[in-house]
Amino acid sequence: MASYEMERAIVTIVTGLRKLKVLLIGGGGREHALAWRLRKSESVTELHVAQGNVGMSSIAKMHATQDYVQLAQSLGIDLAVVGPEAPLVQGVVDKFRSIGIPIVGPTAENAALEGSKVHSKRFMQRLGVPTARFHTATTPEEARTALKDFRYPVVLKTDGLAAGKGVVIAQTPHEAESAITTLPCPLVIEEFLEGEEVSFIVLCDGKTAVPLEPSQDHKRIFDNDEGPNTGGMGAYSDSRLLTPDQRSRILETIINPVVHACQYTGFLYAGLMMTPDGPSTLEFNVRMGDPETQPLMLRLTSDWGEALLAAATGSLAENHLQWSPYPATCVVLASKGYPASSESGQIISGIENVENAVVFHAGTKAQGDDVVTAGGRVLGVAATGPTLRESIDNAYAAVSKISFNGMQYRKDIGAKGLKRYT
Ligand code: AMP
Ligand code: GLY
Repeated sequence: MASYEMERAIVTIVTGLRKLKVLLIGGGGREHALAWRLRKSESVTELHVAQGNVGMSSIAKMHATQDYVQLAQSLGIDLAVVGPEAPLVQGVVDKFRSIGIPIVGPTAENAALEGSKVHSKRFMQRLGVPTARFHTATTPEEARTALKDFRYPVVLKTDGLAAGKGVVIAQTPHEAESAITTLPCPLVIEEFLEGEEVSFIVLCDGKTAVPLEPSQDHKRIFDNDEGPNTGGMGAYSDSRLLTPDQRSRILETIINPVVHACQYTGFLYAGLMMTPDGPSTLEFNVRMGDPETQPLMLRLTSDWGEALLAAATGSLAENHLQWSPYPATCVVLASKGYPASSESGQIISGIENVENAVVFHAGTKAQGDDVVTAGGRVLGVAATGPTLRESIDNAYAAVSKISFNGMQYRKDIGAKGLKRYT
């Protein structure tokens, strides 16, 4: 054993705590929040980020390479964590496993749950997991015929990864026709479900699924859920989003069947509609949500590095994840033109004046001494508080300190929760 490894083994024996060198892959708001929480984990002694963003550079060592395997080997990484879906779909987990480095994420085969909506819907149907009634169409003609079996509004989804932009809710046959001509085939056509949307994310080690606290995203660009879908304009996490009975039912009817059917590892994100008939699955993602991760990381109180290592090595237990009862809220600040396009190069000011909140970077970059916009979703401003109201107020007070040309954000993040609980 090399002396470095010997030293680490001794530290583990003496303190009972693993000392981890962690590599995180990805550079959005979600990954900044994951990095921020890893940095606070006692178990994590070194944090490296590949393809990260400028906001992470003060808390981690940054690497530009996309050769993650080579990077992990050369650094002697103990644990790798993958933020975004693309490397998962491309098989990064399979590659790390083949060289024996623990990694948090699903295999490429399991990542197809997100990578292909057709596959995901068929899989749910096979397992009897509740989901909207659907038809898959391989040609526009077939889609037109299938539509005759559905009432309006009807939902049309393109098969592959589309960054939240491959779904159209058509109110009329005319809108459905325009979706058919713009979305690439194959298409999933499905019934429209009504209810409250909840993001239910679990961490899995192949046999056990440990739930994170529930959260709620705000997908439309404008207040009151108007305008086109985006990647997510803000999210809050509040334990009251789901009752203990609802959590058990989701685990029993949706999560556990999937985890057991495919020995699922990594994060499994079920986008749920809480319908009058119970929870129904809108989609699976094979990673954490963005921006749901930001409020969740503010609420997590247990050692994140330990939990992720347990997930990567098949030893995950219920008590690995512990949470503050305080709700948390994240408001996304986006560029002018988002989601259709996005302006970049605008100087961002005021981040240093923020108090009682954490600013997570997403579409930003350094330019000389400035930080400038470099994408659609620019920053996520996240805060907690003893009540949902206070977490929202703290987040918006922080938002008011920040500005850049063309900055747009929703003013009603968490408002539905406030209405429900008061
Ligand atoms: P997805 O990428 O499948 O989650 O779809 C994006 C968004 O479209 C969801 O977050 C929902 O707001 C909406 N959506 C998707 N499928 C349905 C459905 N069957 N009924 C109602 N809304 C839906
Ligand atoms: N917030 C939605 C997503 O991450 O897909």
